[in-house]
Amino acid sequence: MLQLFFVILLFCTFAISNYTPIKTTCPSNLIRSSKSQLNDKEVSFINSRSKSHVSNFLKRAKISTNYTPNIGLSFSGGGYRSSLVSAGIVEALDERSDSILSGLLQSSNYIAGLSGGAWFLTSFVSYQYESITTLKNKWHIKSLIDYYGDDIIEQAKLWIDVDKEIQGKKDAGFTISITDLYGRLLSYVLLPNNGLNNTWSNENNLNPEFPFPILVADGRAPNSIIINSNSTVFEFTPFEFGSYDIGKFIDIKYLGSESGTCFTNFDNNGFLMGTSSSLFNEVMLKIGTSELPSFLKDLINNILVNPFEKLNIDVATYPNPFYKEGSDSISSSSELYLVDGGEDGENLPIEPLMKRNLDILFTFDNSNDWLNWPDGSSLIKTYERQFTHPEYLFPYVPDTNTFKYFNLSSKPTFFGCDAKNLTSLTSDIYSVPLVVYFGNRPFSYWTNTSTYKLKYTDSERDGMILNGYNIATRLNGTLDKEFNTCIGCAMIRRNQERNGEKQSDQCKKCFEKYCWNGEIYKQGKIGENFNNEGIITNTNDYNSESIPGFNSGGPDI
Ligand SMILES: *[C@@H]1O[C@H](CO)[C@@H](O)[C@H](O)[C@H]1NC(C)=O
Ligand SMILES: *[C@@H]1O[C@H](CO)[C@@H](O)[C@H](O)[C@H]1NC(C)=O
Ligand SMILES: *[C@@H]1O[C@H](CO)[C@@H](O)[C@H](O)[C@H]1NC(C)=O
Ligand SMILES: *[C@@H]1O[C@H](CO)[C@@H](O)[C@H](O)[C@H]1NC(C)=O
Ligand SMILES: *[C@@H]1O[C@H](CO)[C@@H](O)[C@H](O)[C@H]1NC(C)=O
Ligand SMILES: *[C@@H]1O[C@H](CO)[C@@H](O)[C@H](O)[C@H]1NC(C)=O
Repeated sequence: MLQLFFVILLFCTFAISNYTPIKTTCPSNLIRSSKSQLNDKEVSFINSRSKSHVSNFLKRAKISTNYTPNIGLSFSGGGYRSSLVSAGIVEALDERSDSILSGLLQSSNYIAGLSGGAWFLTSFVSYQYESITTLKNKWHIKSLIDYYGDDIIEQAKLWIDVDKEIQGKKDAGFTISITDLYGRLLSYVLLPNNGLNNTWSNENNLNPEFPFPILVADGRAPNSIIINSNSTVFEFTPFEFGSYDIGKFIDIKYLGSESGTCFTNFDNNGFLMGTSSSLFNEVMLKIGTSELPSFLKDLINNILVNPFEKLNIDVATYPNPFYKEGSDSISSSSELYLVDGGEDGENLPIEPLMKRNLDILFTFDNSNDWLNWPDGSSLIKTYERQFTHPEYLFPYVPDTNTFKYFNLSSKPTFFGCDAKNLTSLTSDIYSVPLVVYFGNRPFSYWTNTSTYKLKYTDSERDGMILNGYNIATRLNGTLDKEFNTCIGCAMIRRNQERNGEKQSDQCKKCFEKYCWNGEIYKQGKIGENFNNEGIITNTNDYNSESIPGFNSGGPDI
């Protein structure tokens, strides 16, 4: 302990911080108002993207078309479970791999992440789309607290730096929340340069070879509860931050500005991914009290002196750029309170994508709905939201028992296959994208690890990633050698319907195989185990003996 004390003294004077927002003059047109129009720069970026990725993908899939579908990818929350499985999925979709779906990543215009999915996405973007095979080795998925393990000198330096960085932001006049501390610690694990000099508005974050990245968080007024019907869904793009729910956006470079006082450098990537996953603020308190040095405990206690913070641990506090900008409840407070994007039950980041006129939306669900597996709950919440927010159209999905019984979460499933079935939801049926759902399930690893497992060995990490790859590729093509054709059929479906074109016989077969046909499950026993095609009651196929990872999935912070 004494040793640590001297180490701390030694480093105190040397730490520099570039976490502090920098005061600057305000640009004109800081706030953009629109409930439907996309940002001009985003539109130019999308238009600058080459169509060759999609046409090559469709060519390989033996689909003949001149059409370029507008494609979005959505990655759910679920802690490192979701980050790691998502990494495996992205590896499978990457043109740099030789999987059956290789190229789907580059073919997509949009990629959205929330909470654990946002950790992955922020890291992927910050490391400038490095391939997963090398990116995964840059991660140090260990305890947030002993990042440097037994190296107490480096560890002490980390704590001092983090303390200085947060004090610096506070001294610049900002309200600090637990998310600042948690976001800084998470940055060491997942971001280059420990998350410093790392902002979401950084122009290097955009590369036309890759989709446009979007992080999602929810607005939540103090001491309130939000659900899918009344949440305000916020999005962080490399160009702006805001919400189509309230129709207000701020240039993201000036996030942190409010009422004519402007700052840059507030849009720190660690802070943003911490905001999107703010449920983990709680974890800081659990580990924090015993293992942190006294000055960080003091920092936490100072934050908690504020009774509001104490009751709203999960909140990340932002200066409200939309203060007095409208008559909605968000505009009424000088501070903006953001929470984990999954808090309203919509654990897949979908709302923002629904504003982007997609033909097809791919959703990758690593939620914890039962035994740390998903059962479609998140899609159901999004489906329901259209009844209070009619501007977000979403195809019909069934209840969770039907998801389980008809194996809709244990093999890829298409929803909204027939636009004509959507007439009772909207008259604009062709504007509703076809939705493809991939639920987390075991093939080569038990990827239903606890959301609160925050330590992974290298072999656990690799097991999680490989299983993600297997989920995306139907066990590397072995369960369906023409899976890419079926995906191609889904990609062009809306355009065919719009133009009254007929579907090929092969695509018809694909749709019989992968579309939910509208049937609802009413009775009988639902299994808890998996075979190649679905959920069953016996354990002969995948069990704790036959695939690894069964005993290492519990919480571990
Ligand atoms: C971060 O950026 C600042 C200002 O651009 C620069 O002075 C500093 O050296 C950079 N720090 C690192 C660690 O790259
Ligand atoms: C949202 O709805 C829930 C459930 O009806 C309610 O408890 C909560 O107060 C509502 N929150 C807001 C912000 O309106
Ligand atoms: C993972 O799922 C299996 C059943 O599919 C269950 O027996 C096991 O307890 C789950 N593990 C965790 C950590 O939830
Ligand atoms: C998947 O299949 C391809 C081609 O058949 C093979 O080259 C590759 O090694 C396989 N990948 C994995 C992760 O099994
Ligand atoms: C679509 O409509 C047909 C005919 O009404 C119905 O049988 C089917 O179940 C519907 N499918 C879905 C997915 O709702
Ligand atoms: C779900 O998958 C299991 C295992 O393959 C299969 O026995 C069952 O028939 C499937 N259920 C349906 C409704 O297709």
